[in-house]
Amino acid sequence: MPYRKIAVLFLALGFAFAAAGMVAGQAKDEKPAEKKEPEKPLTKAEFDDLMEKEVKDAWNKLKINDKKKMGEKAAEAADVIAAAAAKVLRYDGKVLKGENKDKLAREQKDFKDWVDAMKKHAEEYAKHARKGDWTKAAASREKINETCGACHDVYEPPKEK
Ligand code: HEC
Repeated sequence: MPYRKIAVLFLALGFAFAAAGMVAGQAKDEKPAEKKEPEKPLTKAEFDDLMEKEVKDAWNKLKINDKKKMGEKAAEAADVIAAAAAKVLRYDGKVLKGENKDKLAREQKDFKDWVDAMKKHAEEYAKHARKGDWTKAAASREKINETCGACHDVYEPPKEK
């Protein structure tokens, strides 16, 4: 084999190893980024959108399809509410009154409990609706409704008008 060809071959091999090394290095570098950063709080506008366009919209769809006994559609709406729970925990508002006034709402036990309850009852509702077990679904639906109200009573600031 002519030297030229051998040289080219080694050069190519060298590049291949260098490239492989870079890929491996990158893969290593990416690892720490995978570690879950604590989720950023939502801005007021983002949270209002979450409540108005995601949660309330899904809640309305749940009620409409529940009435029509459209199990799968009602369950899908409940899935949206359950999935929104993680984002509700990123609320950046404060406690409005009482001994914890001005502390972060999302760090209060009752706030977190209501988020958990909303998620749990929405998941249960979805399960019952998919099976067409409308008696159990009605009980879960009522509990979702109570959670919205309970949390708003304490944490929703009065509307400025
Ligand atoms: C864990 C607490 C919590 C739960 C549970 C909750 N919300 Fe809310 N929601 C809030 C807070 C806090 C606000 C006020 C946000 C603001 O004005 O900054 C709010 C505001 C709203 C608003 C008004 C949004 C706006 O544009 O001002 C709607 C509509 C709403 N929620 C719907 C719902 C529905 C429907 C449910 C139940 C399926 C629900 N929420 C469950 C905390 C909650």
